[in-house]
Amino acid sequence: MVSVKLLLSLGASLALASPISPPPNSLLLTRDVAQFNASHPNITIFATGGTIAGSAGSSDQTTGYQAGALGVDILIKAVPQLWNVSNPTGVQFANVGSSEITPAILLNLTRLVQQELDKPECQGVVVTHGTDTLEETAFFLDVTLRTEKPVVVVGAMRPATAISADGPINLLEAVTVAASPAARGRGVMVVLNDRIASAYYTTKTQANAPDTFKSYEQGFLGYLLNIKPIFYFSPALPVGKPYFNVTETAAELLPQVDILYGYQGLDPKLAAAAVAGGARGLVCTGMGAGSWTAPGQQALARLITEHGTAVVFSRRTMDGYVGSRQVGYGAGFLNPQKARYTLMLALSAGYGDEQMRTLFES
Ligand SMILES: *[C@@H]1O[C@H](CO)[C@@H](O)[C@H](O)[C@H]1NC(C)=O
Ligand SMILES: *[C@@H]1O[C@H](CO)[C@@H](O)[C@H](O)[C@H]1NC(C)=O
Ligand SMILES: *[C@@H]1O[C@H](CO)[C@@H](O)[C@H](O)[C@H]1NC(C)=O
Ligand SMILES: *[C@@H]1O[C@H](CO)[C@@H](O)[C@H](O)[C@H]1NC(C)=O
Ligand SMILES: *[C@@H]1O[C@H](CO)[C@@H](O)[C@H](O)[C@H]1NC(C)=O
Repeated sequence: MVSVKLLLSLGASLALASPISPPPNSLLLTRDVAQFNASHPNITIFATGGTIAGSAGSSDQTTGYQAGALGVDILIKAVPQLWNVSNPTGVQFANVGSSEITPAILLNLTRLVQQELDKPECQGVVVTHGTDTLEETAFFLDVTLRTEKPVVVVGAMRPATAISADGPINLLEAVTVAASPAARGRGVMVVLNDRIASAYYTTKTQANAPDTFKSYEQGFLGYLLNIKPIFYFSPALPVGKPYFNVTETAAELLPQVDILYGYQGLDPKLAAAAVAGGARGLVCTGMGAGSWTAPGQQALARLITEHGTAVVFSRRTMDGYVGSRQVGYGAGFLNPQKARYTLMLALSAGYGDEQMRTLFES
């Protein structure tokens, strides 16, 4: 069978639609024309790198490998079954380990994904990503995209070269979910290890094992059985999920927000050091339901008064709610890394005290 591979530079078409232009060299759109099936949904896969594109020296190596070694073409070629459920198109957005992803990169990514979703000929989007910060990207996309179409973030815990690599099945499951009409109207989802989860709540719970993305309290949205999605509930969005329009937000307008960790005898000076280093906001990973030491709270209260620092308290426990407090805001159900992006976006949108309280605590 002759397969014609078409490489189209996205540059021209995307530049027309938006004030930003795509990063040079990194945006190639691949579509296998020979396998195009008009009755299948068109799914665009934005590849960012990570273990799912990782390569190691031997099949028993599942740590210490090079993340982001394989291109999106290779990922798609490795799973021909993608063509059974979709017309996949690959966009090589980046190819890095997920610890290299920055807020500025996410701004570019969310705009490109929104542009793609706004096209009538696109039925859904998949983002491949390293798992270490996958939940941050998935959350950022969830609160900055406006769409009914499915958006699925996917990764792998084992590199492509490992025995029992999980990347190919995870990618097929992610594309299958993105191509499924039943997946519409559910916000951004995370698909790994046969589970479908809401990006808003899901967190990485295990450093090494494939069964790692979970939201213990809110649970999963569904399951994949024989690579067919089965949803437990009708489409719904998390209660109180905000939307931030970042179409015209310049990267410099996303302020620095740092995360501090709570522990016995914590050093109150770290908060002032963060603010001196440029932080406009702080997320405190509180003990229990957000508690902080008395000297630590005094230091924070001073920063709020003297520098207008925005302070949000989350928790170092896996789950739970942090409510309103005398100093700063409680993060509600958000974990520190999700509270951080929420605070960055709220600060850049110019939220005042009352709006912050409503955003975090209700
Ligand atoms: C975002 O996209 C713009 C426009 O293509 C580019 O100049 C900039 O370097 C990108 N930023 C990052 C962090 O990739
Ligand atoms: C196109 O997709 C439809 C629905 O999945 C399937 O029945 C049909 O066989 C496909 N056509 C080809 C040429 O593969
Ligand atoms: C699925 O894809 C595989 C590999 O391309 C192909 O051999 C198989 O016939 C396809 N199955 C269906 C049901 O289309
Ligand atoms: C899929 O993409 C092709 C090529 O851009 C387009 O002709 C077709 O209408 C699209 N399919 C759907 C269902 O939008
Ligand atoms: C976001 O803002 C842009 C212009 O800044 C506007 O064109 C677009 O419609 C807005 N999107 C939504 C969903 O409000």
